[in-house]
Amino acid sequence: MFKGTRETAWPWKIPGSNLRYRSADPDSPTTADFDCGSEPWAEEINEFVSSAGWVGKNYTCKAFEFGLDGKSVGFAFALPSKQRHPDYAGTTKEHYQFVIYLGINKQFQGATDLKSGERLSTLIFRAIESLPRDVFDTSGAVIGQMVGLMLEVREQNTRAIRCYERLGFQKDEARGVFESHGMTSIWMRKLFDARQETGAIAPVSVSVGLTGD
Ligand SMILES: CC(C)(COP(=O)(O)OP(=O)(O)OC[C@H]1O[C@@H](n2cnc3c(N)ncnc32)[C@H](O)[C@@H]1OP(=O)(O)O)[C@@H](O)C(=O)NCCC(=O)NCCS
Repeated sequence: MFKGTRETAWPWKIPGSNLRYRSADPDSPTTADFDCGSEPWAEEINEFVSSAGWVGKNYTCKAFEFGLDGKSVGFAFALPSKQRHPDYAGTTKEHYQFVIYLGINKQFQGATDLKSGERLSTLIFRAIESLPRDVFDTSGAVIGQMVGLMLEVREQNTRAIRCYERLGFQKDEARGVFESHGMTSIWMRKLFDARQETGAIAPVSVSVGLTGD
């Protein structure tokens, strides 16, 4: 059957909502025009997105752009990373889905999807949480399962921290505040329920996990 422009331009939908997503395209004008703010942490993400910073790296991350009614809402980038578990003081390591960059365009921050009545930030994280959890080695063999989401956030980025807390993330108190690229940061984690969410249509790609310290 013929697919409309919306379905071909934004192939994946987040069920129950109008929010859709696609693989981030380094050559798209929406990539070059991305603007999530002027704070130092926002400028860092603007630079990563607009310069297609995920291309040509020694890792393969999942790179997504989210769209509403044909307009670009924002970007998210994630990859498996093996980290101490269940926090920085843990003596074992597990694979996490590490959200390395995430930003919502200024005009969509704080916005709600009319169909679901949910925040766009909530829907974006639902899509990330529903990504396949298998971790592969370079030969394509499954070497583990991701146990949760992790991210680093600037200590002063109170808006993002508030948003993540609302979504069920907790500060990694064992890691505490640490210096990173000239700013102070914290880690936050959200452990998955045992049951995999299967709501969103999640594209699969083979990624090689980064190994933490
Ligand atoms: C972080 C980001 C993705 C969150 O998306 P968002 O749409 O702004 O988030 P939401 O509006 O759903 O949630 C923000 C929460 O912080 C609150 N808030 C807004 N401004 C705030 C501030 N200055 N200080 C503290 N809380 C603030 C909001 O009221 C809301 O609280 P609630 O959940 O209790 O209603 C988005 O703001 C963004 O892209 N920021 C710039 C880039 C960035 O910081 N990326 C994250 C890097 S880790």
